[in-house]
Amino acid sequence: MSNVAVIGSQWGDEGKGKIVDWLSSRADVVVRFQGGHNAGHTLVIDGVEYKLNLLPSGIVRQGKLSIIGNGVVVNPWCLLKEIETLKEKGVRIKPENLMLAENANLILPVHQALDQAMEITRGQNKIGTTNRGIGPCYEDKVARRGIRVCDLYHPELLKEKLTKMMFHHNILLKGMGVDPVDVEATYDKLMEISADILSYTGVVWKVLDEARSENKKILFEGAQGTMLDIDHGTYPYVTSSNTVSSQAAAGSGVGPDAVKFVLGITKAYTTRVGTGPFPTEQDNEVGQRLGERGKEFGTNTGRKRRCGWFDAVMVRQAAKINGMSGIALTKLDVLDGLDEIKICVGYKLGDKEINHCPSSQIEQAEVEPIYETVEGWSESTYGARSWAELPAQAVKYVRRIEELINTPVTLLSTSPERDDTILMHDPFVD
Ligand code: IMP
Repeated sequence: MSNVAVIGSQWGDEGKGKIVDWLSSRADVVVRFQGGHNAGHTLVIDGVEYKLNLLPSGIVRQGKLSIIGNGVVVNPWCLLKEIETLKEKGVRIKPENLMLAENANLILPVHQALDQAMEITRGQNKIGTTNRGIGPCYEDKVARRGIRVCDLYHPELLKEKLTKMMFHHNILLKGMGVDPVDVEATYDKLMEISADILSYTGVVWKVLDEARSENKKILFEGAQGTMLDIDHGTYPYVTSSNTVSSQAAAGSGVGPDAVKFVLGITKAYTTRVGTGPFPTEQDNEVGQRLGERGKEFGTNTGRKRRCGWFDAVMVRQAAKINGMSGIALTKLDVLDGLDEIKICVGYKLGDKEINHCPSSQIEQAEVEPIYETVEGWSESTYGARSWAELPAQAVKYVRRIEELINTPVTLLSTSPERDDTILMHDPFVD
């Protein structure tokens, strides 16, 4: 048996929810290792809908241990609210099935105030963040002024750290014309929930070490996507964490050898929310059609997603950077009925042809896609459960993607329904 890391190959929203749910039903332990409540997906189990932002997907299933690792930034009030909402739906959440890393950083009201103020200050160059305080919290972590879960054990130290942190941020907020955030108010708010939060707290790396020695199956659940990675993405139009598979290790406290299979969730076309370069974007009828058929609205913020053709250059790059063992290809049915479909197979940069996404934001904005056009199909692929049920042109499209990204399709998802899946290889089995 091997442990699996699931990550997004594009700019997030690749349809991880369904795949992660299927995999988590087979795992013993499910671990979130980066991001925070900027992520969002909906699970439907036995007709009941569950919305998750911060909690790992394993939480809605009995007998699984769900872990929020140290790499996650945690808004403690949102965490408790999410727990409460799920409990109201009958989900059992106890310290026995949910553990929060004591070395995870906390998102505080000041981080949200900063996120909002900084976006306004950026004006036209705004990132289009989810406004959840994710970036400012990671900034504090790296600046070594962050508040961690374990600080709740020591109220005096907590107050001292909050005072130093607010001294720094309130100068900044004042400069941006925003009201300062009160230390006492934040401290009191934290003390109100401290016992609740601490009841879930534990030494995650040890628990994962034990799970590994007992040969338990661990699923590392990534959020966002590779092109939003702070190092490898379309910087600065990215999120503030490493979203790539190697973060599964650092963000939870296991060695890199813990991850045996990296599954890249990959949409059969491309979408992006927020601003930033998007070479294959179709700001036209094609994009509109993809958006409508694919219901491309953010689960978290309700924002309309930008849509475009499949970009094999970016996904191949993502496959290499993540060490992808295979991809789960989703939403193929959204392409049903198109006469022809384009795939980006390279970029033009000035008079040069390149086969990677450059790091410079200027070059990222300048690259022009080189397309290959393939024939579409008129039949429906929706709900197909075997290759034989797929039209020949759809099979050709999938095979061409595999070839271009140099990575096999492990799983093909043909509708949001769990069983509408064509499985080539079980990622948990070596
Ligand atoms: P932040 O993570 O809120 O700082 O937002 C930074 C960028 O990442 C913005 O472009 C967001 O739209 C994008 N982003 C953050 N979380 C997600 C996600 O779960 N799906 C897709 N895009 C996301």
